[in-house]
Amino acid sequence: MSSRRRTFLKVLAASPLLACSGTALESPSDGGGQGVAGSDFGGSGAGGKGGSAGSSATTPGDKPGGNISATSIGTLLVLPNSAIVLGRDAQGLYAMTIVCPHQGCYVAPQGSDLYCPCHGSLFDSNGNVLRGPARAPLTHFAVSVDAAGNIAIHTGSLVAAAVRTTA
Ligand code: FES
Repeated sequence: MSSRRRTFLKVLAASPLLACSGTALESPSDGGGQGVAGSDFGGSGAGGKGGSAGSSATTPGDKPGGNISATSIGTLLVLPNSAIVLGRDAQGLYAMTIVCPHQGCYVAPQGSDLYCPCHGSLFDSNGNVLRGPARAPLTHFAVSVDAAGNIAIHTGSLVAAAVRTTA
């Protein structure tokens, strides 16, 4: 192998995009491939209103989150075919992006925390940074539960990290 080729391969190996692409999950419903923070979901800004029990209206960008009967306190579940993690704690349901705010890889539950395999960032179960290099927390989305207990995640409506939805 020529030294030029070796140099090229070293540059490729150091590329964050390549480093991320090997470990990111596919998300066909979000257009496939790896998400980049802020690009998977349109939002209305943090601090928006939370979801409320009984609401069944859906809008583009809403994602089904299963039935509340399938959740329990301590739930931290990445929803299939989406870049969303659904959580439940003593105060209620919440949902967050799994797109790491560092460079856009997908985080995954690791015990009661969320771990980014690309560069090792660690987030608590509410998306707060426990360890960098990520500096920003995970984005939260509004959640609603209809009368039958069906959960909807409203990815177009960003909410504060403390917002919870109860059935
Ligand atoms: S993308 Fe770098 S720590 Fe997550």
